[in-house]
Amino acid sequence: MLILVLRAVPIFCLCIAYTLAAGPHVILWSSQTYGPDGPWHAVTVKLGTPAQQMDLIPAGAWETQILSSSVCSTSTTLSGCNANAAGLFDPEKSSSLVTISETGTIKNGNFCVNGGGIPSMSGDAEWMFDTLSLTLRDGVVGNNGQNTIRNLSTMVISRGYNTLPSGSTYAAEVGKLSLGAPNINQSWVHAGSRFNATFLPGTLFEAGQIPSNSYGMHIGSVAAGVRPSLILGGYDPTRIIGPVSAQPYTILKLPIDLLDIGISVSSGKSPFEFTSKSGLLASNNASIGTSLPVVIDSASPYLYLPKSTCDAITSLLPLTYNPLLSLYIWDVTSPLYTTIISSPASLTFTFRLSSSITANMTISVPFALLNLTLTTPLVSSPIPYFPCRPAQVETLGENYGLGRAFLQAAFVGVNWGGDGLWFLAQAPGPNTPSLSPLTSIFPGDKTLKGADNGWEDSWKGYWEDGIDGDGNAIVPTGSTASGNGTGADIAHTLPDSALSRGVIAGIAVGAVGGVAVIVVLACLLYSRARRRKADRENVNLFAEAHVGNDGLAGVCDRHAGQGYGPSELYTQAPVGELHSDHNGVVGELHGEYKKASVVELP
Ligand SMILES: *[C@@H]1O[C@H](CO)[C@@H](O)[C@H](O)[C@H]1NC(C)=O
Ligand SMILES: *[C@@H]1O[C@H](CO)[C@@H](O)[C@H](O)[C@H]1NC(C)=O
Ligand SMILES: *[C@@H]1O[C@H](CO)[C@@H](O)[C@H](O)[C@H]1NC(C)=O
Ligand SMILES: *[C@@H]1O[C@H](CO)[C@@H](O)[C@H](O)[C@H]1NC(C)=O
Ligand SMILES: *[C@@H]1O[C@H](CO)[C@@H](O)[C@H](O)[C@H]1NC(C)=O
Ligand SMILES: *[C@@H]1O[C@H](CO)[C@@H](O)[C@H](O)[C@H]1NC(C)=O
Ligand SMILES: *[C@@H]1O[C@H](CO)[C@@H](O)[C@H](O)[C@H]1NC(C)=O
Repeated sequence: MLILVLRAVPIFCLCIAYTLAAGPHVILWSSQTYGPDGPWHAVTVKLGTPAQQMDLIPAGAWETQILSSSVCSTSTTLSGCNANAAGLFDPEKSSSLVTISETGTIKNGNFCVNGGGIPSMSGDAEWMFDTLSLTLRDGVVGNNGQNTIRNLSTMVISRGYNTLPSGSTYAAEVGKLSLGAPNINQSWVHAGSRFNATFLPGTLFEAGQIPSNSYGMHIGSVAAGVRPSLILGGYDPTRIIGPVSAQPYTILKLPIDLLDIGISVSSGKSPFEFTSKSGLLASNNASIGTSLPVVIDSASPYLYLPKSTCDAITSLLPLTYNPLLSLYIWDVTSPLYTTIISSPASLTFTFRLSSSITANMTISVPFALLNLTLTTPLVSSPIPYFPCRPAQVETLGENYGLGRAFLQAAFVGVNWGGDGLWFLAQAPGPNTPSLSPLTSIFPGDKTLKGADNGWEDSWKGYWEDGIDGDGNAIVPTGSTASGNGTGADIAHTLPDSALSRGVIAGIAVGAVGGVAVIVVLACLLYSRARRRKADRENVNLFAEAHVGNDGLAGVCDRHAGQGYGPSELYTQAPVGELHSDHNGVVGELHGEYKKASVVELP
């Protein structure tokens, strides 16, 4: 029905459809979780034709990295391979797979392309491009809740292993889904033209389906029952508590200055001999000055910190260091163990706030989240561990880092366009609303705003009253994470069932009629901005010079060779200013059209 109307008044209405359809998209999470150092949540995607389903950890930038069917049969020194559980990709079985000779292959290299800069998987991989399909929570116009992205930039890993400090190697268990790049496409000179590989948020943005090339994510916690959240083109504001730090990203990384690490007890009796402690970051290490640059990376599991820092933290906790794993194992026989991990005590990370030299921001990671579990092939039976990994910065450009252990308690987002900023904030505990309105990120947005919630309230119920009358911590009742984004467990603009067909149609008509003039203006500005953006992106020449290089240098240089720094796209574009008013007319219309389209379109 709506389609007929659009055909009749093409310029005006198509423009409305184009602008209004762009709302944030909610990504579905798998009901399965993964180790061997988690458990961690993952998202479910399908790749190839016919579609092969697999779970991936959403992480990093540029290429998506997937494990191929051969990954379990390639040699590792520790026995056991759990990669089958997440689903493996067999390139031979896909009819839509594309390869080009210009990409080169990676042999015995380190897959440093994950935007981490934290030691990660090594092995052999080939670049391949295939069709990604995603089931989205919010059905989008014309595709029945399915989104397909053709020629997704992917590294298919035929041999993938992690190396322990002892030199032992073990197979990777799950691949990772790239969360985008500053560029819309990744292109290679090919057959006298350019071959364009695609990225997830960029392609949806270019197709007008999400408001910007951006995402907002909170990976949540399996053990504490904190549901994960990944939104493309926006974020769930209830996943942000307190100030949001906004700082520039670099071509591969999300860097920020860590100012200090401490311990604090939010309420009740402390399980320690103090209620707060600071100065752990630089403790016993004079060479750590006022700050330590770290990168934030959901591709990696641990807290990668100087040995002196891990020692300072762990000296206060019932832990023993295991040199083979280079990790700390909880002493479960110590009464302090249960007391600490079930108390309202947190490890606190203080960061520079939005590149300021005076202001800072602290993210609290409750010890409840730092009782993670090692499983096979790392250990023969599950043991609880504390995720500090003494790390060394061997070469210039490598960083200390905070991986998933930290991100259980932190919101991370990136606005790839605009000023090229990424965002870090405190995320809540298990008490988060199952339904909440999403907020769009627009290309010019320089900051995000959370809902006005308190952090301690978000842990209410989990800690119960914290500490009983005798000063003993009350052990939380068992809780498990549930929900994969279907049904009522994920934020959504408005429950579909809350409005009848008639009411929805009425809203759509009212909205279109009432603000038509503003919409036309917005459309004009929007398409002008998009044209400008396209013009500028044509300048991004690709690094054909590095084709064929093997290993680390080749892969990393290929990125560096793009010569594409944090972009100034959109900074001058009028649409940025217009759109940055989240609560304005345009923002509301995005929501209204989505509701209407669900009803009107087949
Ligand atoms: C994907 O790549 C193939 C091979 O180069 C090309 O024919 C096709 O048009 C591309 N698809 C898109 C959507 O760009
Ligand atoms: C790749 O994108 C560029 C625009 O950036 C375009 O000029 C070129 O034709 C595209 N290549 C193909 C094969 O579609
Ligand atoms: C991205 O690639 C697609 C497919 O080749 C092309 O149509 C589009 O123009 C490219 N966009 C940019 C911004 O280069
Ligand atoms: C002290 O910190 C520096 C980094 O600033 C690091 O290189 C060194 O390894 C640390 N020392 C110890 C004992 O951890
Ligand atoms: C953070 O800011 C507060 C208030 O200005 C200050 O008291 C504190 O020392 C700062 N912390 C660090 C680690 O810089
Ligand atoms: C800590 O982790 C272990 C598994 O490693 C689990 O069995 C135990 O229940 C956890 N304790 C708490 C209080 O969550
Ligand atoms: C999501 O979980 C529900 C029950 O928790 C299950 O019925 C449904 O099949 C799951 N959906 C997906 C896509 O995994």
